[in-house]
Amino acid sequence: MNAAQPGIFAQGARHHYHLEFDLRPDAPADAVAAALAGLREPAVTVGGGNIVVGFGPELWPRLAPGDGPDRLQPFLPVEGAGRRAPATQHDAWVWLHGIGPDLQLDMARGIVRCMAGVADLATDQPCFVYRDSRDLTGFVDGTENPPVQDAVDVALIPDGQPGARGSYAMTMRWVHRLDAFHGLADPEQERVFGRSKELSIELDDKPDTAHISRVVIEEDGEELQIFRRSTPFGNVGEAGLYFVAFSADPTRFNKMLSRMFGLADGVSDRLLDFSTPMSGSFYFVPSLESLGRVVD
Ligand code: HEM
Repeated sequence: MNAAQPGIFAQGARHHYHLEFDLRPDAPADAVAAALAGLREPAVTVGGGNIVVGFGPELWPRLAPGDGPDRLQPFLPVEGAGRRAPATQHDAWVWLHGIGPDLQLDMARGIVRCMAGVADLATDQPCFVYRDSRDLTGFVDGTENPPVQDAVDVALIPDGQPGARGSYAMTMRWVHRLDAFHGLADPEQERVFGRSKELSIELDDKPDTAHISRVVIEEDGEELQIFRRSTPFGNVGEAGLYFVAFSADPTRFNKMLSRMFGLADGVSDRLLDFSTPMSGSFYFVPSLESLGRVVD
């Protein structure tokens, strides 16, 4: 049985780092594979921590023809209710998480060095866990995330299917208007998400525009599930959430986005009044075996 990249599920690291790369059009597949092999070198891994590698819909079939998922598509812009989620599809995504910002930075620099000959850096985003796993709005992010023992089924493509034990991932960089959000009284903030702020308890009377009213979707009596691993980023000037989620079925992402942007029923997510997506990409995160076949 193939094994998933363990960093998808590893918990506890408070320091995260996201890199996205655009492949140079003239980079041959074997040079890309050699660059990726460098990610396993001690000079890169010396910081310890987890490395998760994902591939965009153009790159993966070039590196591993015939060894892939059958539903990997580029991220397309989502537009509705006067709001827009732009598509900024890149070719590769590397997510690091570990015990310190210094070590994650060393690893990130090492990875950028490995990739320098074949790809340009498009995203360079350190992130962190804020307080007790809260978004910078102050709301707990992850309350209804599946627990790790269930997350495997939610996130991984099942055995016997193309890309087995790999996962579809979506990344989106959201920039918040924190002053505007924090200018609302607490009960109004709670209505934006549909949960209480302190204890993250679901509101009985949450509005249809609440974030969780939008993203909870039932099909055939079953709730569509994704496994979220988002972390905040920022400084005093610009701050937000680097949204990351994994799924065995990529259509769940599109269904949730279309309800957030009101495409399904004309009702949009109140969260869009306070946060704007600046990027959006889909990636395939292959199993260790599939990744090994590319880099060995
Ligand atoms: C600015 C961006 C976002 C922020 C700050 C945010 C924050 C939150 C918060 C605070 C919760 C409630 C607690 C929890 O169950 O984790 C939540 C739930 C959730 N969010 Fe988001 N979210 C964002 C974007 C998204 C996007 C883009 C999606 C999917 C396309 C999404 C999917 C979900 C799902 C599936 C839940 C769980 C709902 C439930 O089962 O009750 N979120 N989010």
